[in-house]
Amino acid sequence: STFAALIPAAGSGTRLGRGPKAAVTVGGRSLLAWAAQALAPHVAEVVVALPEGLSLPPDVPAGVRTITGGATRQDSVRRLLEATSAEHVLIHDAARPFLSAEVVQAVQAAVLRSEAATVALPVADSLVLGDMNTEKARAFWVEGVPRENLWAIQTPQGFRRELLHYAHTYAAAEGFAATDDAGLVARLGHAVELVEGDARLFKVTRAGDLALAEALAPVWDD
Ligand code: CTP
Ligand code: MG
Repeated sequence: STFAALIPAAGSGTRLGRGPKAAVTVGGRSLLAWAAQALAPHVAEVVVALPEGLSLPPDVPAGVRTITGGATRQDSVRRLLEATSAEHVLIHDAARPFLSAEVVQAVQAAVLRSEAATVALPVADSLVLGDMNTEKARAFWVEGVPRENLWAIQTPQGFRRELLHYAHTYAAAEGFAATDDAGLVARLGHAVELVEGDARLFKVTRAGDLALAEALAPVWDD
């Protein structure tokens, strides 16, 4: 079976405030190069969705193909799916630089068993509902949510390509928006296998995440 790695990297990086994150460097290397280098040894091809007008950072390994992304992550992934004919795909955010070979291989094995899989991290903190838009943020303690069964979704996520493409087409027809791909497949009633993730797979979203990434980069060795 063949795998393609599909990297959505077409966002604008608004919350980080340093322009598109693909080119933001961590430990002297672009976020996109970190992600592409982690995936390339395990797949037949790597395809990246970039913002209109942006080209690949120069440190991205040779052979990586690019397409123009869409207005949302979901649009970018749909375009990536249409740019490959691989039987299986791994979708991985460019904004998650610390991806080990072990995690990639665990997701690939899960996809071959289950057709759909995602890395996810068991939630360690208590979760509350809070409204950030009020003058003073106030929280509601939601009772009866057993934290031990809650997981935070990370990437990579892996799928038989045709299954994910069908899920995207279905979601688009219904106008349904999700922040991850496995959610679209789960919505069809298809089981998604969970692969236990790692705190180091965090997404560089805000300034604090970039600080953590800079601290981790010099000791990352995979
Ligand atoms: N992404 C994409 N196309 C979009 C929006 C997001 O390919 N239209 C990608 C981002 O480049 C990133 C991943 O999806 O690799 C996760 O998105 P996020 O962390 O939200 O990145 P941005 O959308 O760039 O950041 P922000 O939401 O703060 O603007
Ligand atoms: Mg975004």
